[in-house]
Amino acid sequence: MADKDGSVLAKDYGLDTPQAAEGFHLKGMAHCGWGMKDRLSKIFRPDTGKTVMLAFDHGYIMGATAGLERLDLTIEPLAPYADALMATRGGLRTCITPNHNKAVILRATSDGTVLKDDMSKGIVGVDVDDAVRMNASAMAVQCFVGAEYECQSLENLVRVIDAGNRFDIPTLAVTAVGKEMERTTRYFTLATRVLAELGAHIVKTYYCDDFEKVAAACPVPIVIAGGKKLPERDALDMVYRSISDGAAGVDMGRNVFQSECPVAMMEAINTIVHDGETTNHAWDMFCYEMDRLS
Ligand code: 5RP
Repeated sequence: MADKDGSVLAKDYGLDTPQAAEGFHLKGMAHCGWGMKDRLSKIFRPDTGKTVMLAFDHGYIMGATAGLERLDLTIEPLAPYADALMATRGGLRTCITPNHNKAVILRATSDGTVLKDDMSKGIVGVDVDDAVRMNASAMAVQCFVGAEYECQSLENLVRVIDAGNRFDIPTLAVTAVGKEMERTTRYFTLATRVLAELGAHIVKTYYCDDFEKVAAACPVPIVIAGGKKLPERDALDMVYRSISDGAAGVDMGRNVFQSECPVAMMEAINTIVHDGETTNHAWDMFCYEMDRLS
């Protein structure tokens, strides 16, 4: 196996030749089973091949995050604008009505809390039976590539993938960032590819320089996390650049629910992701909708 240092640098990403989707609307998924494809089609719209996921699982590590003090009050009005809801089973069961008919991305690991510096020693936190019971369209696993307990974290991932595969439930692997993990193109290229090769069906990561190389080298759809709250126009520009560079969607939280106008933000994100609109158009839409709704 290649050594860490001294190997030939990857350089030919075939950016002019997108990976063939072979008759399905998502790359790398053509050979999955019927149930898996049905679930993936609930997450990623077949007409656009893209998704807008709304992430509000932050409480499982951060407690009552700003904007998510009351999931029932914050999320219920936003759910209609999302293709998928990414949440914990506790958050969903207690606060979200089960009538939105949206894909559910169920947080399936328990990784400790922000009170600890190192969260890489997580465990699988949901039995696949409960994911089936919640009608999950996918399970999400936090993956700490490069951290002290990298192997344990990747074991969680493969256990969830294997359990999900028995029921054709896809797994979304999240590239965690933390103290030991650099936020570089090199790191994200490595981490996203490792997670896909281990069997993840969707990979969630962060936007970075040369993102088109990260996306091209990852054989499954990539969605980007929003990260800490940015000014709205900057967040929309990050969405635009991610989609232009090959992301199949976004899975954003704080840049939506901490926005001055979360509904307008969801509308503006949707127009970039699904209508192929530009940052300027989305920003105009955000301002117009914010005025109209205030
Ligand atoms: C944590 C997650 C969160 O769901 C994710 O961070 C998305 O939220 P935000 O856009 O606020 O970063 O996967 O690893």
